[in-house]
Amino acid sequence: MNDPLLKIQGLVAGYGGTPILQGVELTVHEAEIVAIIGRNGVGKSTLMKTIIGLLQTTAGTILYKGKAMSGLDAHERARLGIGYIPQGRGIFQRLTVAENLIMGHSINSLKKDKLSDLVDRYFPVLKNRSGQRAGTMSGGEQQQLAIGRALVGNPDLVLLDEPSEGIQPSIVHDIGQNMKRLNAEMGLTILFVEQNIDMIIAMAQRCYVMDKGRIIDEVLPGQLANDAVVRRCLAV
Ligand SMILES: Nc1ncnc2c1ncn2[C@@H]1O[C@H](COP(=O)(O)OP(=O)(O)O)[C@@H](O)[C@H]1O
Ligand SMILES: [Mg+2]
Repeated sequence: MNDPLLKIQGLVAGYGGTPILQGVELTVHEAEIVAIIGRNGVGKSTLMKTIIGLLQTTAGTILYKGKAMSGLDAHERARLGIGYIPQGRGIFQRLTVAENLIMGHSINSLKKDKLSDLVDRYFPVLKNRSGQRAGTMSGGEQQQLAIGRALVGNPDLVLLDEPSEGIQPSIVHDIGQNMKRLNAEMGLTILFVEQNIDMIIAMAQRCYVMDKGRIIDEVLPGQLANDAVVRRCLAV
């Protein structure tokens, strides 16, 4: 196999004081779809923020395409091809769909028309909505806009934090399918955090289980059909 696209070793990070991440180890290969699952508060979002560079690394390494990310800020990591869609989506509510997409466009190297084609193809719900204010759209539409905004940055790796949150089940399914198409057709690598079993099973090729700031296990999505496994990995 090729070198991994993302390799994390002994990663320690947090918000000052006690670290939240306490030695995270994980590997994501090119064109994989990998989930990080685990209960609330175990450090999943903290991990995503540390990978994109919003939080400092205290110890350990994040290698992206074989290159150490320490010392690079979030903007520089984005330019190298890491897209980030935060939990809660982080779109600009008062800006229009088009304006939100322009914000994501500032870091990309692709031609503009190609990019809007890409968004139209994978998120047709955003078509003909350029002038609509993002805040007036449904949760599912806003999530698709958030993903679209990351896509126009032309990423190789997308970090997606709890895409199903606050979204009705039929749209959860659509988003999962669209992400799988992006993976299959464009070779997009996806690392996503999720607690919604349907979305995990629909999207993931394998899952890392996180607890108390560490990766404690790895499971295949098929194993999540077993209630005992779900209780161990996700239970409340
Ligand atoms: N901005 C912050 N400042 C201080 N502590 C935080 C902050 N964000 C999260 N935490 C703490 O870090 C821990 C992990 O949070 P988080 O990574 O958001 O968990 P998860 O995404 O798995 O639910 C929790 O104890 C949470 O209270
Ligand atoms: Mg979270």
